[in-house]
Amino acid sequence: MSRLVLLAFCTALFIAGTAAAKPGDADKGKEIYDKRCTWCHGAEGDGAGAAKDMLNPPPRDFTSGNYKIKTSSFEDMTPNDDDIFRMIRDGMPGTSMPGWSDVLKEQDMWNLVAYVKTFAGFDKPPATQVDFGTRISSSAESIEKGRKLYEDGDRCVECHGKSGKGSASKRLKGDAGERTWPRNLTKPWTFRGSDDPKDIFARISTGIAGTEMPSFADPKSKKKLTVEERWHVANYVASLAKTGRKVDADNTVVKADKLQGDLPNTPDDARWEKSTPTTFYLVPQLIGEERYFKPSNDTITVRALYNDKAIAMLLEWDDRTRSIPGDETAEKLADAPIAEDGVAVQLPVTIPKEMQKPYFGMGDAARPVNIWHWKSGAKDAAESINLLNSRGFKEIEKRDAVAAGLNAKASYSDGTWKVLITRPLTTSSPEKDVQFTEGKFIPVAFAAWDGSNNGEKGSKHTMTTWYWLLLKPASGYKPLVAALMVMGLFAGGLLWWVRRARNPAG
Ligand code: HEC
Ligand code: HEC
Repeated sequence: MSRLVLLAFCTALFIAGTAAAKPGDADKGKEIYDKRCTWCHGAEGDGAGAAKDMLNPPPRDFTSGNYKIKTSSFEDMTPNDDDIFRMIRDGMPGTSMPGWSDVLKEQDMWNLVAYVKTFAGFDKPPATQVDFGTRISSSAESIEKGRKLYEDGDRCVECHGKSGKGSASKRLKGDAGERTWPRNLTKPWTFRGSDDPKDIFARISTGIAGTEMPSFADPKSKKKLTVEERWHVANYVASLAKTGRKVDADNTVVKADKLQGDLPNTPDDARWEKSTPTTFYLVPQLIGEERYFKPSNDTITVRALYNDKAIAMLLEWDDRTRSIPGDETAEKLADAPIAEDGVAVQLPVTIPKEMQKPYFGMGDAARPVNIWHWKSGAKDAAESINLLNSRGFKEIEKRDAVAAGLNAKASYSDGTWKVLITRPLTTSSPEKDVQFTEGKFIPVAFAAWDGSNNGEKGSKHTMTTWYWLLLKPASGYKPLVAALMVMGLFAGGLLWWVRRARNPAG
């Protein structure tokens, strides 16, 4: 294809993809709404659908008139039709609000726009719009200006923290009294309205209705920013992305590199930076007795290294609250009851010959699992590493972690836990402990607990499905490359499972 044809083709696609406001028919919209949207948003549009108590954040109450992602000015509650259309078409990342473009025709979505507006009685377009001025493109200079403005007088730091991870320093609430969290700005793929600086600019300008995220275009604000300043801040926020910690659905294998000499013995050892991170979704545990739907931890990043004696795993995840039972400040920030934070690694006792995984609850009678469970400790109790052998939820044996050579060390800094767990490759009880072998695909799964999130403990936690751990032989090993490609094919199926688990209504 010549470049010109390609360009014309792309332009056509672009035009087709751009929402051109078409008048919607509210009556037709109601028919679709009653079929597709009431489960979450409620028949009256008040957010009181059947799924309401299972969702965090809660489904929007349209009667409140609060629209988070809008381009009309901060003074005007009414969003543009395009704004609503976009959220219906694309969905809202980081929430259960799905995108509908695969299911509904474009006109259906415009009809829905017309209908949902009626709940708040919006019958006129907004009178004023966000003033975008002239876009300032990103550059080192602009990012640096943005950083200063972000930190000045704690402007954004107050809620989002210096690192942008939003580690809690105070409790924030939404209009309906629900607990809300400042967005983790290092994970821009969770932004409801995209990480394009233009979108970030709009959010800073309008604030986020129904939450404590304020408008910085409001002349009455002591922390007001000019149009130019808002572009610098938007460029800075976009630069905070830690893309290495984004889930790559094709990557289902934790690859451990072999080291000559000692393994790192702290979570902050610089050698970890050189190892390959793999990030997985954490989904609520829905199989065990106490079902739980409102997780706060969303992903976990895993690295592994080994030498000829032992294996070391580094587990890293963002948790806005360090949960210390007995500590006054931690208890104030927690949603009671407070419990310890924690993380666990689950491995089969015997590495299956074929690429077969144990039952993903907690093993079963035929295929028992090892569970390494680290807990963060309390005000007057140190952190601990625990070893369990399990054949399903009912048959759990507590074992001596020290005797099996398990060791853990953790660090918490600015909203991130890093937990290092080490174990010798082999132990003296091969019938009870997994024996690590080079070049084999070893099933592995992870779990995490946020003790400040209504006391997650026991079976109330988030987890991954089964993935693989591979101790990469030091010298190249061709059959592995082929096997890794097969893994890629599995990934599609896993993603489907994760989506379903994240969106119980879908
Ligand atoms: C599985 C639950 C679920 C279903 C089904 C669902 N929504 Fe939502 N929706 C949500 C949640 C949760 C939010 C709030 C997200 C937030 O506050 O960040 C939301 C928010 C919205 C918003 C607000 C956008 C904004 O800028 O604030 C609109 C509009 C919306 N939904 C429309 C719809 C329509 C139309 C349907 C049916 C076609 C629908 N939703 C179906 C869960 C759902
Ligand atoms: C008083 C607390 C507070 C301050 C100050 C604050 N924010 Fe926020 N911010 C929030 C909250 C809360 C949310 C999440 C709202 C929600 O629940 O959707 C948020 C969300 C965001 C988002 C996510 C947008 C999206 O599409 O999801 C961005 C970007 C953001 N803030 C940037 C900033 C910047 C930049 C500043 C400083 C100029 C700032 N915030 C100041 C509380 C604050």
